[in-house]
Amino acid sequence: KKETSTIRPQMEKLLPEPTFSLLERVGELADSMKMNAFIIGGVVRDLIMGIPNEDIDIVLEGNGIEFAEAFANKIGGTVKRHETFYTATVETESGIKLDFTTSRTEYYEKPAALPTVSRSNIKEDLFRRDFTMNAIAASLQPGRFGELIDHFHGLSDIHHKRLRVLHNLSFVEDPTRILRGIRFEERFGFRMDEQTEAFIRQSTGSISALSKARIITELRYLFSSASPVRVFTRLSELGVLDSFLPGAVWSTYSEAVLTHFLRHPEVQSWSVTEKEYWFFITLCLYIEDFKKPSLARMAAETRQQKKVVNDIFSLLEHYPGSYFNTPGMFHNIAHQTEDHALLFTSCVLYPIDTDVSAMIEDYRHKRKDLTNWVGGDDLKEAGISPGPSYKNYLFQLEQAILDHKIKNRRDVLQYIHTNFLS
Ligand code: CTP
Repeated sequence: KKETSTIRPQMEKLLPEPTFSLLERVGELADSMKMNAFIIGGVVRDLIMGIPNEDIDIVLEGNGIEFAEAFANKIGGTVKRHETFYTATVETESGIKLDFTTSRTEYYEKPAALPTVSRSNIKEDLFRRDFTMNAIAASLQPGRFGELIDHFHGLSDIHHKRLRVLHNLSFVEDPTRILRGIRFEERFGFRMDEQTEAFIRQSTGSISALSKARIITELRYLFSSASPVRVFTRLSELGVLDSFLPGAVWSTYSEAVLTHFLRHPEVQSWSVTEKEYWFFITLCLYIEDFKKPSLARMAAETRQQKKVVNDIFSLLEHYPGSYFNTPGMFHNIAHQTEDHALLFTSCVLYPIDTDVSAMIEDYRHKRKDLTNWVGGDDLKEAGISPGPSYKNYLFQLEQAILDHKIKNRRDVLQYIHTNFLS
């Protein structure tokens, strides 16, 4: 007879004592109501791996919402129903929360849509889930407390650090699971098995049924736990990068640009907003041919971002060329360029020309400081009468400052005398 596996010891060790006792009471009440109660999903997976997790999902074979109400009543807690999700959260007086739901099965009438749901037993409830490691339940019944229900060999997969889907249509039904899969690989150091990878490759058609907004939300979530470089590499290996982000190209060049961007001190210290961060990360996938702005505009969502893309490409149009020789020369084409467009242009050029990349960064910093250096008053003081030529003179002064030909106040006056008054 096969030995039954249990996580009772892990529950005792990793769950706070009050939570453990509460789960025992769930089992006792379920038993007296002739229902079966289980903890399921992420918490079971984590307990098996020895990771504490207090996000506890409980599934009832029976009406989970009714059960939650009876349980709250019995322990003197409050209950909040979330009808649309068929769940209810019970909170104890001391603040412990448990989520209850009815075991159910899901039918997908068309790929990537929301499923139709109906009640069923625990096995079917496990079968509708994404990966075997998330498809394990543990009984809460007295006498079986902690016993694993593992119809799909999730335990063995966890031991082998293997990420495996339950059936061939899993990704077709819900392509966001591909992104979840990458997240789990990164988070636990697991690896998808070959079959799972093959199913992903076959699901490209349904990825395009996802809305752009949904893809962006899921990718953002993914980036919060995995580096964008890893994510793009993996999506590209799996042959689905272009399905999630149409037109995107991942190459050693885009990787170098992105890596340089992520190492930038202002990115590291979060001087760029989340929105810009996201925009630049995706922009890296559209600069393969850095002379073609049409592709890059795909990364831009807002008017402001479209302007940044245009700014970047109007600079790149001049590359290579003498405008890139010194900050002063560069000022001719860059004086109206957005600061972030400059930052990104320096990243785009970094893999092919580190000197120019550094010059652009130098220019960015110096340009921020220019207004403290010269103004119309300096020209007036030198005896030049105000007029349209001021603009020109000031621009020349700025160029001289950028190129270090002017280093202090005295130099400013000197420069005016030798260049504008003689
Ligand atoms: N699930 C799924 N398909 C999805 C999202 C979720 O099958 N697209 C299932 C998984 O089996 C998961 C459960 O729903 O275990 C709960 O999902 P969620 O709370 O998002 O994930 P957890 O596994 O709890 O992981 P995390 O620790 O990241 O919250």
